[in-house]
Amino acid sequence: MGFQIAIDGPAGAGKSTAAKMAAARLGFIYVDTGAMYRAMGLYFLDSGVDTDSEEEINASLPGANVALTMQDGTQHVWLNGTDVSDRIRTEQAGMMASKTSRYPENRKKMTAMQQEIAAANNVIMDGRDIGTVVLPEAPLKIYLTASARTRAERRYRELITRGETADLEKIISDIEARDYADMHRATAPLRQAEDAVLLDTSDMTAEEAADRIVAMARDRMQK
Ligand code: DC
Repeated sequence: MGFQIAIDGPAGAGKSTAAKMAAARLGFIYVDTGAMYRAMGLYFLDSGVDTDSEEEINASLPGANVALTMQDGTQHVWLNGTDVSDRIRTEQAGMMASKTSRYPENRKKMTAMQQEIAAANNVIMDGRDIGTVVLPEAPLKIYLTASARTRAERRYRELITRGETADLEKIISDIEARDYADMHRATAPLRQAEDAVLLDTSDMTAEEAADRIVAMARDRMQK
């Protein structure tokens, strides 16, 4: 059994950037579980499943094969043999992931995969239910968050840098809608685990957040 670091928090809090940096410094494997739900979202989209029908979702699950690989330190996400690492980053994939991640059978499939990866490696895993459901025994749990406005501004800058057009107010309302859906679903809602450390990154750079994670990990590993 490896050492597990569970990082949860709302969309756009900077979990993946900080977790990736911390993983590189600790020599841990970084697992982005949101990417897995996004790949499943694309699968449901491509196969034309009615995402309002739990029955159709469940029936289609065996046809989806999601895999994660590491290439030159970067995580790649595969859906049925196709590299969907870029496609999963679209707003559409994010919305589909948010919508379909509420289904218990979909979560069961992803949770089993995530636990398998964590059993064999030292991992930093980020998502919404890692500390509460996937790795409840993780020796270090962090709930990483930032204000909705800060998160929206980061996303806005990201889109502008990529040469895309963006509307800040629309991003804020999308983020709030996604937060609400993630926090209020019946199965594995986003919440801070009782034994998780709260890290608010509103006034922190990603490097500072990574520093804090690495320091906490080194401290816990010594104990
Ligand atoms: O972190 P992200 O934005 O890439 O995640 C996409 C969606 O997947 C998000 O709306 C919630 C869902 N998700 C989840 O339900 N559980 C996880 N462990 C990770 C993501």
